[in-house]
Amino acid sequence: MEKVGFIFDLDGVIVDTAKYHYLAWRKLANELGFEFTKEQNELFKGVSRKRCLEILLDIGNVKATQEQFDTWMVEKNVDYLAYIEKMDSSEILPDVTRVLEYLKKKNIPIALGSASKNARPILEKVDLLPYFDSIVDGNSVTKAKPDPEVFLIAANNLGIAANSCVVFEDAVAGIQAANAANMVSIGIGDADILNEADYNFNDFTEMTDDFLKSLLNKEHKA
Ligand code: G6P
Ligand code: MG
Repeated sequence: MEKVGFIFDLDGVIVDTAKYHYLAWRKLANELGFEFTKEQNELFKGVSRKRCLEILLDIGNVKATQEQFDTWMVEKNVDYLAYIEKMDSSEILPDVTRVLEYLKKKNIPIALGSASKNARPILEKVDLLPYFDSIVDGNSVTKAKPDPEVFLIAANNLGIAANSCVVFEDAVAGIQAANAANMVSIGIGDADILNEADYNFNDFTEMTDDFLKSLLNKEHKA
């Protein structure tokens, strides 16, 4: 049997950091004189910090000099870091640890594939760092999801063929990136939104060990 690798997105898959990103973006929007809603925050899932700021400024119809843009990027991240400061393992999403344990017991290589530049400190805070054989984050990539770069680097680091990798993602752009990498894509969240995924689950509590086992044995993508 050919070896299989598993790649996890971070935000929205392992931990629910979207709420902290939202608070930090909303604070900046309010300072700049406009509202930023939770619905608008949905557009930011899986999207790089730089692109998020561009979208935010479009929403508020704010024109920025390069210097202001850079300052606001830093300001948002300082606020975000303050919000995540107190994160601990109680913020791991339900059954994520069970799935990681299952894969570890079977000696399956595991990677992180995230757009976040804060991925490593977050994994440290929630005590999950030891599960990961490779961490590919916003510091390691040049092209954002839906480009497959982040997942291809992860597969390469694990020494596993791309078409033998399985990706867990909560963002449309992430599912598209996994599909573009020719990996098995598993949507975590709303199946109507993540309708391009090969499989869909609302969360990991719905994912049985038997399903995970089937991924270890299945014929992978051509
Ligand atoms: C994840 C989140 C996005 C966030 C991006 C960059 O993909 O879903 O909302 O903008 O990471 O995160 P960072 O921690 O580098 O600002
Ligand atoms: Mg995500």
